[in-house]
Amino acid sequence: MLEVVGLNAGYGPVNVLEDVTIRVDEHAFFGLLGANNAGKSTLINALSGTVAARGGRIMFDGHDITGLGPEKVVELGIIQVPEGRLVFPQMSVIDNLMLGGYSKRARGQRRQRLDEVFDLFPRLAERRSQMAGTLSGGEQQMLAIGRGLAANPRVLMLDEPSLGLSPLFVQNIFKALSDLHKAGLTILVVEQNLHLTLSHATRCAVLERGRVVVEGAGDELRNDPNTRRAYLGL
Ligand SMILES: Nc1ncnc2c1ncn2[C@@H]1O[C@H](COP(=O)(O)OP(=O)(O)OP(=O)(O)O)[C@@H](O)[C@H]1O
Ligand SMILES: [Mg+2]
Repeated sequence: MLEVVGLNAGYGPVNVLEDVTIRVDEHAFFGLLGANNAGKSTLINALSGTVAARGGRIMFDGHDITGLGPEKVVELGIIQVPEGRLVFPQMSVIDNLMLGGYSKRARGQRRQRLDEVFDLFPRLAERRSQMAGTLSGGEQQMLAIGRGLAANPRVLMLDEPSLGLSPLFVQNIFKALSDLHKAGLTILVVEQNLHLTLSHATRCAVLERGRVVVEGAGDELRNDPNTRRAYLGL
């Protein structure tokens, strides 16, 4: 579904991604792992069109989408849940969700999407009229994911959704992602939580200094002694 071939990207004089090739199949739960500064966010941002590719190609459904701006990428259904949640604090939960469904591809289905989000996260339904800024960190992460779902994604990309959350909320978030995956959504998640990612993901890649150093099924990576030692620090 989403194929990255020999991608290079960076900022100013600095090259971050070097010849990155990954393939995210339709209905995959793809985990992107790697240490701080490995280039994980840069890769996800390149896919969402917010960081420019300097070389290589990004293919979606067999079409070359390299260089498409973020608005066009969103209309294709490639939806990013940004790092650090970034909900609108002065707006209610429901207004945040409505805003998520503002794209052309999502507008006609906002009501239905909203019901799905409330089914997935009953806490958000209970707090629908509350200002987003008054939610707990875990609830804000749910809202950020809900906003992504409101955009009617074909691929949902998440940048460290478990960062800073209590263990219970981390479980909640992964359970929700797992349910979405089972319902057929394609998921690409950047994570530092190795255990949860390796146990949920159908495929994983490890980035190291902007390069893919390992790629394989979650179980394969988890069970391979060399990978565990060299790249996962397990
Ligand atoms: N806007 C930017 N301008 C300049 N350099 C940047 C910018 N964003 C990231 N970088 C640099 O690019 C490199 C990769 O950063 P990136 O954020 O992609 O890593 P990451 O794997 O997501 O790290 P983390 O786990 O800390 O989120 C780092 O050296 C970082 O300093
Ligand atoms: Mg990052």
